[in-house]
Amino acid sequence: MTAGPTHEKIDPVRFIGNYSSGKMGFSIAEALVAQGAQVILIAGPVNLQTTHPHIRRIDVVSAEEMNSAAQKHFPAVNGAIMCAAVADYAPVNESQQKLKRSNETLTLELKPNPDIAAGLGKIKQPGQLLVGFALETNNEQQNAFAKLQKKNLDFIVLNSLNDPGAGFQTDTNKISIINRDNKTINFELKSKTLVAIDIVEQIILAMGL
Ligand code: PMT
Repeated sequence: MTAGPTHEKIDPVRFIGNYSSGKMGFSIAEALVAQGAQVILIAGPVNLQTTHPHIRRIDVVSAEEMNSAAQKHFPAVNGAIMCAAVADYAPVNESQQKLKRSNETLTLELKPNPDIAAGLGKIKQPGQLLVGFALETNNEQQNAFAKLQKKNLDFIVLNSLNDPGAGFQTDTNKISIINRDNKTINFELKSKTLVAIDIVEQIILAMGL
């Protein structure tokens, strides 16, 4: 599992990040261990606790660190669920000193981060399941299916910022699950705990367990 945001350092006091709280990913980790799974939870910077003995938590900060942990552990697992909101870009240079304020405009040069899910999609072996997420604001269905294909996912969980109660930080989510045949199952708005159970049910079905 990946969960939470990544932070890309600009200087010792600032970073590029996003609003992910980690709630959705941590709920899935809990739902997986409730079904008997052993989970490696690669978590970006979040304020959430994990206590279950079958959840091994690896805390990371940046997309590069998340990618290294995911690449290291993926070959030995049955599948990966990519719930993290990974920053797509990082500053080219991290300033060692705090950047000083001035009245001039400031330009930050950014470089693309690794696409962690796509990287796992490239090394995925028969029998391994790769599940992605898509957080969309427009053309939701098409964008999500394009991500599934580009990243070689087995299915993708779509949530849209146009749905009240869905997405970042909320205790609820409203999802659709899209498979490789572009077949979609739509779910009602429910707590992230219950959404996680729905996702794990689809994982169990997809793995033929
Ligand atoms: O954490 P919460 O506050 O509970 O919010 C949950 C959530 C909204 C963060 C979650 O439900 C969600 O949608 N996560 C994915 C958000 C996202 O970054 O989506 P994306 O469409 O940009 O990315 C598509 C997929 O590629 C995702 O599986 C993502 O983890 C993965 N990705 C993206 C970029 C990148 N550089 N590496 C990746 O692995």
